[in-house]
Amino acid sequence: MPEGRQVQQMFSAIAGKYDVLNHVLSGGLDFWWWWRMARTSGAGPGKRFLDVAAGTGDSSLALARRGAEVVSTDFTHAMLRLGPAKFSAKGLASLIWASSDADAQRLPFRDGGFDGLTICYGIRNVEDRNLAYAEFLRVLKPGGQLTILEFSTPVMSGLRAFYDWYSLRVLPRIGAWISRDASAYTYLPASIRSFPDQRSLATELQAAGFRAVRWTNLTGGIVALHVGLK
Ligand SMILES: C[S@@+](CC[C@H](N)C(=O)[O-])C[C@H]1O[C@@H](n2cnc3c(N)ncnc32)[C@H](O)[C@@H]1O
Repeated sequence: MPEGRQVQQMFSAIAGKYDVLNHVLSGGLDFWWWWRMARTSGAGPGKRFLDVAAGTGDSSLALARRGAEVVSTDFTHAMLRLGPAKFSAKGLASLIWASSDADAQRLPFRDGGFDGLTICYGIRNVEDRNLAYAEFLRVLKPGGQLTILEFSTPVMSGLRAFYDWYSLRVLPRIGAWISRDASAYTYLPASIRSFPDQRSLATELQAAGFRAVRWTNLTGGIVALHVGLK
């Protein structure tokens, strides 16, 4: 796991190309995965959400589309600053507030202020996940829900073989070509492989103090949605 500063440098370097690469490399599945995340999160009118590691804000947009108020936060300014123009273009700027400089391990928010907390493709990059889980529990209201959307382990062997070929051979080349940065899209498949599988992540969340932990595989487990309650 690279240090926080290296993660910030990596995302700063690719920020301008991040959205287009997401859409191209996932074949457009990214929109479906965010939509499922928002539906599972319980976001809706009158709910206040914190979207941690929000990057350029597409995960926050998915929550606001369901009517939730969202604080969209990240520790990489170059990513976060691209969100507000999209929020305005989609007519959702009144629901989303972009708040910079929030490290998942040291959130600058008061205790118990959020009905829901989401982190999409972010927890894999956090140096000390247990510090982050403690912060998530602190800022959630009692009964509030954590929703994690993250790359995971494909459950079917045929799909796994295809995914290995795609993510190790094809994805780094397309990523390097479009972003002009070879390292970020070599780091991506490596970080996915060193991240806990579905069951191990669920065990980790339970050990951290979340209850009613469960997960759903999306697209055969290429991505998984984990939820847990405070
Ligand atoms: C792959 S992007 C995901 C962005 C967005 N959630 C999405 O679904 O597209 C990962 C983001 O995590 C952020 N990140 C990584 N570690 C973090 C940390 N410790 N605290 C806050 N943000 C972090 C990075 O700056 C980056 O913007």
